[in-house]
Amino acid sequence: MMKAVEFRMPQVLLQGPGCMARIGEEVKSFGKTRPLLVTDKVMERAGYVGSVVKILEGAGCEVSVFSELKGEPCDKDVETGLKAYEKNRCDFLVALGGGSPIDTAKAIGIMEANGGKISDYMGSGKVQNPIPPLVAIATTAGTGSEMTKVAIINDTANDVKMLISSPRVLPSVAVADPELTVSLPPAITAATGLDAFCHAVEAYVSKKEQPITDALALKAIQLISENLRKAWCDGGNMEARANMMLASTLGGIAFNNSSVTLIHGMSRPIGAIFHIAHGISNAVLLPMWAEFTRISKPEKFAEIARIMGEDVRGLSVQQSAKKAVDAITSLCHDVEIPPIRELIPDKAEFEKHLAKMASDAVISGSPGNNPRFVTEDRIVELYKKAY
Ligand SMILES: NC(=O)c1ccc[n+]([C@@H]2O[C@H](COP(=O)([O-])OP(=O)(O)OC[C@H]3O[C@@H](n4cnc5c(N)ncnc54)[C@H](O)[C@@H]3O)[C@@H](O)[C@H]2O)c1
Ligand SMILES: [Fe+2]
Repeated sequence: MMKAVEFRMPQVLLQGPGCMARIGEEVKSFGKTRPLLVTDKVMERAGYVGSVVKILEGAGCEVSVFSELKGEPCDKDVETGLKAYEKNRCDFLVALGGGSPIDTAKAIGIMEANGGKISDYMGSGKVQNPIPPLVAIATTAGTGSEMTKVAIINDTANDVKMLISSPRVLPSVAVADPELTVSLPPAITAATGLDAFCHAVEAYVSKKEQPITDALALKAIQLISENLRKAWCDGGNMEARANMMLASTLGGIAFNNSSVTLIHGMSRPIGAIFHIAHGISNAVLLPMWAEFTRISKPEKFAEIARIMGEDVRGLSVQQSAKKAVDAITSLCHDVEIPPIRELIPDKAEFEKHLAKMASDAVISGSPGNNPRFVTEDRIVELYKKAY
């Protein structure tokens, strides 16, 4: 049944090889000249910070750089970044990097425009004032954060990866230039590529599915299944990199409007407590999730199998849906995603946290969008199964 839906994305998307060169024109339209460039040391060493500063200076800007991020962002990083924004009298934001710098810039913007503590904004729709203009330049393919209204920030006092979601957090300009991803090492290519895959499959089967995001999500699934292995084997393969970046953009738009589900709900607590990179903490749950969820939407899982190139001729819908689980499992296997037990060898330590992890997962709201219903007890069982 067709239903009324809402669809949002950044006002401007620059997409494709070399598109970053065009940010100067976009920035001029803000009528502001003092950006804080939020990034990390890897981006400085790769020379990307120098290139972005040059383009911004060419557009008449005086750039301050904040590159103190050490990993996935926490509340303290946001406070330090906000101080840099205020001290340098900045008036807009540029983020350069993976989801970590982009989410940090969004959170700095929330604090600048709204005051308080970043934990005040955990959940949906709590941000009152729009953030300053933000140019979000992605260097992973990826979180799709450049396309989304979401920021994920670690609450260090409570070991919770807070999900903050509001249309007022959307970047003004999203930049998805695959040339910036050529330097990604294979392990990060795999982790971030499977994050994009999770965005697409979760949005596709989400209870908040809608026709526009279905089309985008399916294309993303196809592109990732055809290109992730190639980009992982040969990082210099520009065609594979460009297709992965496009998939990441499409996956980002899809989940921004149809939401993620159980994988992301269960993955954030693993990241918050065991400090495992976001893409990996998703990927280790992905085959288990597909097997658990396929019976609730077999037609959609059958379509996933077909689009991933499985031979489903002559098979029933249920048989085809099982093939999707096979295709997903083999994709994770081919790019060498380890099982949770290798990442967290201390099983007793893992099990000690399961009740909190299941509770935090449910509180985030994401599992509520899964087409197969889950309780906290069931989530504990699923963690054990994935281990
Ligand atoms: N806001 C959203 O919509 C959204 C969606 C998904 C995930 N996230 C969040 O994003 C964060 C993860 O982001 P991520 O997976 O992009 O990783 P990241 O930004 O943490 O980067 C991972 C590592 O890769 C390096 N790196 C990034 N780009 C590179 C490049 N082109 N070449 C070489 N090295 C590079 C970084 O310096 C870092 O060391 C998590 O906190 C996650 O929760 C946010
Ligand atoms: Fe993600």
